[in-house]
Amino acid sequence: MKILANDGISKSGIDALEKVGFEVITVKVAQSQLESYINEHTIDAILVRNTTQVRQELIEACPSLKLIGCNGVDLDNIDVEYAEDNGLHVVNTPQASSSAVAELVFSHLFGMVRFLHSSNREMPLEGDSRFKELKKAYSEGIELRGKTLGIVGFGRIGQEVAKIAIGLGMHILAIDDQIKSAVITLDFFNGQKTTFTIDTVDKEKLLKEADFITLHVPEQDGYIIAKKEFEKMKDGVGIINTARGGILHEVDLVSAIESGKVQFAGLDVFETEPSPAVQLLMNPEISLTPHIGGATKEAQDRIGTELAGQIIKLLS
Ligand SMILES: NC(=O)c1ccc[n+]([C@@H]2O[C@H](COP(=O)([O-])OP(=O)(O)OC[C@H]3O[C@@H](n4cnc5c(N)ncnc54)[C@H](O)[C@@H]3O)[C@@H](O)[C@H]2O)c1
Repeated sequence: MKILANDGISKSGIDALEKVGFEVITVKVAQSQLESYINEHTIDAILVRNTTQVRQELIEACPSLKLIGCNGVDLDNIDVEYAEDNGLHVVNTPQASSSAVAELVFSHLFGMVRFLHSSNREMPLEGDSRFKELKKAYSEGIELRGKTLGIVGFGRIGQEVAKIAIGLGMHILAIDDQIKSAVITLDFFNGQKTTFTIDTVDKEKLLKEADFITLHVPEQDGYIIAKKEFEKMKDGVGIINTARGGILHEVDLVSAIESGKVQFAGLDVFETEPSPAVQLLMNPEISLTPHIGGATKEAQDRIGTELAGQIIKLLS
């Protein structure tokens, strides 16, 4: 059986598949060439990230395909219903990157409260000539311990975020339109475990009381945070979006930063990816990453191994 890992797969995933006799091809075939490549090489399964599209026309034109695998949470780039109606398996790894995304939330948060996003831009330019001025400018940092973190969307990633926040001594206010309560288990290095039950609250309370707000919902019909929501937040709030572009109104965010309502923001995802708005990129109050939430070596390993396991179960 031949697997085309068009957007790559971890070595652990390749090893697991090759061990049971699958051939894994890791060339990157351009979208326009995919149909002919799959047919020419009689590919049995295609693995993609969110860049390669696997639409109805491709599935229809490639009868050798038996499985589509996606290494992520969302399957927006795959016509899942059509594939499944036509007898293909569609598999993904929704859990594998949750802790990686949660850690990135805190990378932004820790950085923002001590102005690292700005200091890392200024120090190379003026660290030698204006050291004392920069020291003064970045001296009024704040600590996360004791602050209240608002978690919007209390699913897999939201709950991973809660684990880290609890460990840091933060208070949590979570909202979710499905989940009323969640049991969070903290696992420690020595095998000890502690559990916490977190009841979700209403959106008004979260907006009013949170010192920082982090977004973990899937794609929405409209914005989940825009002008109306910013107006209800505490002055000087921090906002993090590692979920997806289009749920946070970027123009309203910039206005809220300019008015002082929002003190800082951390963005990993953007409405106009892969060309984020220059007003965001150049904004000194925004900590920026290029959609790398799930992109740790460990998460990629987990994704590869989990995908391989599912493929072996379904196709061998
Ligand atoms: N930055 C990255 O690289 C990266 C990586 C992985 C996932 N993500 C994104 O993270 C997001 C969350 O992923 P997850 O695995 O936690 O998903 P999940 O499905 O486990 O959790 C999402 C939660 O949001 C809730 N929700 C949906 N709409 C809501 C609303 N309007 N108000 C309140 N709650 C709402 C759902 O009930 C659910 O519990 C997704 O958008 C995903 O695309 C980003």
